[in-house]
Amino acid sequence: MNNENVIDKIQQYLIQLQKQEGDLIYLNESLAQDEKQSAHSPGIDSPNLSETAKPKGQLSNEPEQSLMTQNAVEADWKDSQNIEELHSKIHNCQSCPLGASRTKFVFGTGNPNADILIIGEAPGKDEDLQGKPFVGRAGQLLTKILEAIGLSREEVFIANILKCRPPANRKPEPAEVELCEPYLMKQIELIKPAFILTLGLTALDTLLKGKHKMGEMRGQVLDYCGTTMLVTYHPAALLRNPNWKKAAWEDVQKLRRMYDEYLEEKG
Ligand code: URA
Repeated sequence: MNNENVIDKIQQYLIQLQKQEGDLIYLNESLAQDEKQSAHSPGIDSPNLSETAKPKGQLSNEPEQSLMTQNAVEADWKDSQNIEELHSKIHNCQSCPLGASRTKFVFGTGNPNADILIIGEAPGKDEDLQGKPFVGRAGQLLTKILEAIGLSREEVFIANILKCRPPANRKPEPAEVELCEPYLMKQIELIKPAFILTLGLTALDTLLKGKHKMGEMRGQVLDYCGTTMLVTYHPAALLRNPNWKKAAWEDVQKLRRMYDEYLEEKG
């Protein structure tokens, strides 16, 4: 079994325990210590084991209040005045087990004053390695879609619901979303976009709280806390189902039209 699989297995086990006990189970000091020793055994290697040394703590939807985050997320992150400050205060987050298995924290990239905020699900392998959102195959398609409506990645802001990669690219767990969502909320507060474009059901369901159907929601002009929101397919879904591309193309063209109207009104 390679390193990644071992870490994935441990993570899945912890998530399972969390589900069973309704509480987030963290590796305690001694377990982390054992792991540290076994990591140095021939043939077993483990990335950043110090990051897995976590005290037991209650699951909290206030990331800075979790016991284990005291040294990871700066307590006053919510007072951040700009995107750079927020990034510097949260990028060492260890609020959930994904903090231990990630390579890089994927905060998001783009224009901190963007009019358009694009929200995906969670980093994949390439994003985890590079620390940037949407840089893998799905990301390349997203870049092309944006270019096709005259937008560059630099003029929008691209972020995800989760800032760390879930093992084996599985769907985010509700507990992970609950812990990570406040960071996205703060990003929205600081960027103040005029438009939000969600990619896929995870982003849509998280923002609008509930289970939705893409076929029913896409194409609609929605409201997210006073911000105009549009919904379309996730580019990874478009790679799997090219017959959805037509609808996605209509969705992004609609975004472009509405953005042009907005720019015209703004002068
Ligand atoms: N899929 C996502 O939802 N986000 C990424 O950053 C990459 C792939």
